[in-house]
Amino acid sequence: AEHMGADLEKVLLTEEQIQQRLQELAEQIWGDYRDKDVLLVGVLRGAVVVMADLMRALPGTAEMDWMAVSSYGSGTKSSGVVRILKDLDTDITNRHVLIVEDIIDSGLTLSWIRSNLDSRSPASVEICTLLRKPEAAKVEINVRYVGFDIPNDFVVGYGLDYAEKYRNLRVVGTLAPHVYS
Ligand code: PRP
Ligand code: MN
Ligand code: MG
Repeated sequence: AEHMGADLEKVLLTEEQIQQRLQELAEQIWGDYRDKDVLLVGVLRGAVVVMADLMRALPGTAEMDWMAVSSYGSGTKSSGVVRILKDLDTDITNRHVLIVEDIIDSGLTLSWIRSNLDSRSPASVEICTLLRKPEAAKVEINVRYVGFDIPNDFVVGYGLDYAEKYRNLRVVGTLAPHVYS
């Protein structure tokens, strides 16, 4: 297989930009949770990469757990109805939960996850996302930590996939037209 970089049209965020921003977010998060025992909750599979780097940018220890969800129906996310494929192993009653995501697109996935977690009597639920597409938003979500607001273009890399590929790209970018044909 060719080098993945050959499939990119444009690099939107370099490794350095991503790591620098994650460092800033980690410091902000650590300040906010200084006296609290935070539980990081990642959403499989896209959040794997940002979780790995964000948690290691924290100056102190933090717990981690994972959820996997899927939309009902065609696999498009238009319905906003979500099914849990893998639930948390952790009881989040009275816990401070920080959801970690790679991207908020329409917002439907996170909006559902947040209300689902809210119903379990946690002490708090906040959201950290590396990327957000303000132009694609279909629901309002209160997001405490945002890495970058980006244009409404299809992007891959740093956990984000196209047909399950490109998650292991170290940058975030758009794909060249030949990839789709
Ligand atoms: C992507 C992304 C977010 C979600 C955002 O996940 O990782 O979880 O879509 O979309 P939304 O804001 O419109 O709901 P996807 O469902 O593609 O699964 P994946 O993480 O396994 O790639
Ligand atoms: Mn995802
Ligand atoms: Mg995906």
